[in-house]
Amino acid sequence: MRCCLSAPLAALSALPDPCQVLRSGALLTPALLRTAADALRGPAGRSRRHRDGLAAVHLELVTLAEDRAVITWYTGVPGTDDGFGHMLPAATEGEVVYGTHPGRLTRVAAEDGPVAHHYVELTDLEPGQTYYYQARSRGVAATPTPLHLVRGNAVGTNRHGLGSSGGPYSFTTPQPPPGRHLLSIALCNDLHLGETTAGLVTGIPLMRGITQELGRAPYPEIMSRAVVEEARLRGADVLLAAGDISAGGAAQDLAQARQILDGFGTHGQDYFVVRGNHDRPGHGNCRSCDGGCGDSFRDGFLDGDGPSYFARDLGGLRIVGLDTYEKDGNGADSGGLGAEQLAWFQARLRENKDQPTVVFGHHPLAVRDSVFPVTGGQRLGRRQARSILDAYANSPGVFLHHAGHTHRNKRTVLPQAPHVTMQEVSAVKDYPGGFCLLRIHSGGYAVNHYKAGDVAAREWAERSRRVAGGLWPHHALGRSVTDRNSMTARDLSGISRPAPSLPAQRQPHTVRPLL
Ligand SMILES: [Fe+2]
Repeated sequence: MRCCLSAPLAALSALPDPCQVLRSGALLTPALLRTAADALRGPAGRSRRHRDGLAAVHLELVTLAEDRAVITWYTGVPGTDDGFGHMLPAATEGEVVYGTHPGRLTRVAAEDGPVAHHYVELTDLEPGQTYYYQARSRGVAATPTPLHLVRGNAVGTNRHGLGSSGGPYSFTTPQPPPGRHLLSIALCNDLHLGETTAGLVTGIPLMRGITQELGRAPYPEIMSRAVVEEARLRGADVLLAAGDISAGGAAQDLAQARQILDGFGTHGQDYFVVRGNHDRPGHGNCRSCDGGCGDSFRDGFLDGDGPSYFARDLGGLRIVGLDTYEKDGNGADSGGLGAEQLAWFQARLRENKDQPTVVFGHHPLAVRDSVFPVTGGQRLGRRQARSILDAYANSPGVFLHHAGHTHRNKRTVLPQAPHVTMQEVSAVKDYPGGFCLLRIHSGGYAVNHYKAGDVAAREWAERSRRVAGGLWPHHALGRSVTDRNSMTARDLSGISRPAPSLPAQRQPHTVRPLL
């Protein structure tokens, strides 16, 4: 069975800096011990009791924009266990009551039918307004996803209600990006088509991987299709997929990825793809060969023998796609651009330094504030990252750098290039299971994370939150709401609206019907 050794978990089996080991060990040891105890007890030792009660847990404020918020939670049967330390689902009603005063939650948004994986969208919110809310199922108030290891907050933009048993919790909506809306871009990564086990860590037997339920479709396929569909529903004009399109570079997995992504539009026009370390050529993790196969990523997404990096002009907006694993290696080492690519990239930045520019590539330039030990394998090589940041410092037009690889939502602004938002986006393939929507206005831009709303995607995302002994949310969701939702004001008026060649069903930043 093939598995994923995702970059942050790979760090646990690598040899990171001793200080990193001590710091992360203090955070991770309790969870590892819990996982060990579970493993020793075995399935027979786990509680299988079904009680009449209902537990409403894992409350998350996923999306927060100027006019809407998406709130999710899970209802389960207390005392049950699906074999991965997770309650069995309890399908029931769900509603969010909310208002502008904690004592007057007079507005209600309810789901249409009973579900266990709840997904409620609040709409018609006022920008810059503080709201209080409580999510309930059968009268039971949902409790937040705990993020104590990172001193995070999954449910609000302030700490109101944290420590209580169900809130109300609170958030303040941001202002919209100034000016008129120009276009929207879906930022996604780490589809891992072909993967069968999430979060399996080589060398740490107690860190169990999570597999799909028997009889269900493979989870990378479910999640990838759902994200493409969600991106279209949310009004994305363009989609960027920043690497690890496949689990192991197999031709059939990249062909399936191509087929799924073609559901969004035309490759090279509506959507763009770059390579991740899992997509590297001929690395022997392929179902159809013994390591001697060619470059299936090139066969699937690149034209002929040309470069694996590119720049495109979309009505004045420049999109630069980087191949951050243009090198030999086993995939676990740091990312790197070939000398020719790096020189090309720096020349592009020099020649049009003021042009509004979005850069995307698999490895981030820097990894800050990780719950797991940070090794070189989680980012681009330090020297290259520094030279790119130096180039950004002299290129005021660059405003966003989108990366994957870390499988987490994290917004970072570095002092070397404070005009550039470095946005790491969590993986498509598992929890929290979604993408970020970049909405570009003439006077600024917003980044908002959306979970895939498809029911099967919600089920797998919930199941896979148990990756890393249940620690995965501390890493992947984002320490704060602003790690996955932000607004930045800046002049982007040089960009024009894309030509109206888009399918009619795309609606700007629209909502899904409640289930
Ligand atoms: Fe990945």
